[in-house]
Amino acid sequence: MNVLVVGDGGRAHAVVKALKQNKQVHEIFALPGNGGIAADAECFPIEATDIDGIVEFAKTHEVDFAVVIPANALVMGCVDRLEELGIPCFGPRANAAIIEGSKVFSKTLMKKYGIPTASGEAFSNPDDAIAYLKNATYPIVVKADGLALGKGVVVAVTYEEAEKAVRDMMCEKVFGESGSKIIIEEHFIGVEVSVLTFTDGKTVVPMVSCMDHKRAFDGDEGLNTGGMGAVAPNPYFNKETERECMERIFLPTVRAMRAEGRSFKGCLYFGLMLTKYGPKVIEYNCRLGDPEAQVVLPLLKSDLLEIMTAVSNGTLSETPVNFSDEAACCVVLASNGYPQEYQTGFEITLPETAEDEEIYIAGAKRKIGRLYTSGGRVLGAVKTAKTLAEAVEGPNHIQHKINYNNANMARNMRL
Ligand code: AMP
Ligand code: GLY
Repeated sequence: MNVLVVGDGGRAHAVVKALKQNKQVHEIFALPGNGGIAADAECFPIEATDIDGIVEFAKTHEVDFAVVIPANALVMGCVDRLEELGIPCFGPRANAAIIEGSKVFSKTLMKKYGIPTASGEAFSNPDDAIAYLKNATYPIVVKADGLALGKGVVVAVTYEEAEKAVRDMMCEKVFGESGSKIIIEEHFIGVEVSVLTFTDGKTVVPMVSCMDHKRAFDGDEGLNTGGMGAVAPNPYFNKETERECMERIFLPTVRAMRAEGRSFKGCLYFGLMLTKYGPKVIEYNCRLGDPEAQVVLPLLKSDLLEIMTAVSNGTLSETPVNFSDEAACCVVLASNGYPQEYQTGFEITLPETAEDEEIYIAGAKRKIGRLYTSGGRVLGAVKTAKTLAEAVEGPNHIQHKINYNNANMARNMRL
């Protein structure tokens, strides 16, 4: 069986490595993949947003199954186009990927179906948004409607900050058309939990819960990034909360999408906050998280390809999905300067890893068999262990064995 994987970061590497464990997998084609993925799959330089290029590739290669990972490719209809060729896919069609592609859509959906979330209003005109801010309670949260590489959310402590966020998004267009509409919503205080789920549009199966760590430097300092690490399970998420989320959030969301004629198949990612009023949805993502996938997938005991196939053909309820009761921690090594300016091109030497260690490559190029840094987030060092405390210690140990100049990492995971 030949599998096409669309994506490039560390989570794509984690998916490729998990798929490879299935003995029926013959070839994995990664578009575009990266220098690390190239050790596990055949990479071709076709970007995830080049949907025509992906379709042409699929026509000329024998692809039996496709896994589309990045949100932008999903929102652009990559799955729709591959399914038109008769290729079964893991990933939602564009009409369901909108759950991440438009925060106005998802807020409207949650309101209509009574799914617990922050109360908020949508605006398509900056004057109306600013008038609303004048009578608001602070802090308040301003969110660009569309995809903004994880940067489209501003928690504004004062009116001035909120007004600036509105002007930046709607007038200065710092996120392009993604900010032509915005949501202004109530600010919650609480612990954040990420729950990635498999769903075929009817059945929803939560993966082990997790939590990412966004600040760039040690000690929870520095700018917010795409994610400098993650742990699983999330120590604040217990069985009772999971049951409550299943009843009040996960199943209602999947049913709501089906009722809207937007059946969601793939990984539906629930960004939750555990507030004093109960669990609330902070965001939906239409795909695996990065680096959340790097801690969740190593704990998956069942076969990923079998699950993904069941998601695609609607038989998830009959398919085993089991996770180990161990814990995992991923620490990202980034280029110094990330998430702002940084230099690349430094050679990386990787150590042998033990059975309970993994290194997933996120931003590296391969030249004549050698690896060189090529991105902001370079790699993720992952350790699985019996307890979270042991897992959290692990990546430091792996990192000492990894060598490249210009590395930065945030060692102290916020737990
Ligand atoms: P999002 O992209 O929607 O996940 O937002 C990014 C981050 O902003 C979240 O991980 C939270 O830390 C924060 N955030 C988003 N919405 C809220 C909210 N209503 N209250 C408090 N923090 C929020
Ligand atoms: N780590 C955050 C995300 O993947 O959305």
